[in-house]
Amino acid sequence: MFTTKLASVLFVASTFLLVSQATPLGQNYRRDEPAPVTPTADDHQIQFGYEGDIGPPYWGSLDPINWGLCNKGTKQSPINLYDALLVPNSPLSFSLGESSSGLSLTNDGHTLKVVFNVEESSKYTLSAYGSKYTLQNFHVHTPSGRLSFKVFRNLKIGICNFEIKKNTYFGTIDFVEHRYNGEYHDLELHFVWMDAANNTAVTGVFYDKGDAPSSFLQTAFVNPSPPPTTKDSPPAPLDLSDSLLVHKFLEATVHDFTNYYAYDGSLTVPPCSEGVKWHVYRDVQILSIEQHKAITAITKWNARETQAYNKTAFGIACHTH
Ligand SMILES: *[C@@H]1O[C@H](CO)[C@@H](O)[C@H](O)[C@H]1NC(C)=O
Ligand SMILES: *[C@@H]1O[C@H](CO)[C@@H](O)[C@H](O)[C@H]1NC(C)=O
Ligand SMILES: [Zn+2]
Repeated sequence: MFTTKLASVLFVASTFLLVSQATPLGQNYRRDEPAPVTPTADDHQIQFGYEGDIGPPYWGSLDPINWGLCNKGTKQSPINLYDALLVPNSPLSFSLGESSSGLSLTNDGHTLKVVFNVEESSKYTLSAYGSKYTLQNFHVHTPSGRLSFKVFRNLKIGICNFEIKKNTYFGTIDFVEHRYNGEYHDLELHFVWMDAANNTAVTGVFYDKGDAPSSFLQTAFVNPSPPPTTKDSPPAPLDLSDSLLVHKFLEATVHDFTNYYAYDGSLTVPPCSEGVKWHVYRDVQILSIEQHKAITAITKWNARETQAYNKTAFGIACHTH
């Protein structure tokens, strides 16, 4: 385990800058040049994105009144998860229904999202924190590497208890959702639950690329035809010949949520509202390389960088666990 030294952080930062000048970042994942924005607080047309001057570092200043927490919040998500946040053998209390229709896949310009209509939404509930939440949607985030693998391959640097390991893309420190002990994953699936007062809880599941396809991701995100490739595409109704699709998936992962990391964080997109109850399932699921390709062809990268939770004066969270 490494200890913190500001010097090493500065070293990392300066190394990053040097290399990032020499190595164009994320060429394969660039969206078209973002349109210039002239934000005003009551302008509901304000756009956010994942790069350029509408990227995550600027979210808070695009709309300081409504999105200020994105820059100024102290309990922002995603974070680097670690073992002390693990809640073992404490299943969450779900009630899971069946759906044969009423679900559709949409593209909101930031993610691919399976949305439940009101009737279907009410069939799936999570009882926790003295409240009853219903399932609103589930959607994906797809991190991707940005810096040349070779450049940092043999480096090993410690920041707090966070170790950038050999074989970890250094560049992905900027664009991942949750991490666990510094490791990133290829895809993160978020189930969003909301109670009557609009309090939000999220249950998250990690995926890595592997040999086997995920039948759940196949039905939800890959099979719908045509998939909504842009924000303006019509929603694609989900063909739910298996009415227990969502039920079974949640039961196998989230419902049997006996080992998950839990903490109080925020939305990972503007307005970055805090007070979000996070639960990230410990066990990593597998999707095939083809499925990952099909999904990221649409979502590109849509992951916010790891946040400095419990910020210190230096803006760096250091845990002593
Ligand atoms: C919850 O959010 C919805 C949609 O934004 C809104 O119509 C409703 O008024 C909100 N309810 C509360 C209690 O804030
Ligand atoms: C933030 O700090 C508090 C108090 O030290 C600690 O209990 C909590 O686990 C920390 N949260 C995270 C996500 O590290
Ligand atoms: Zn999300």
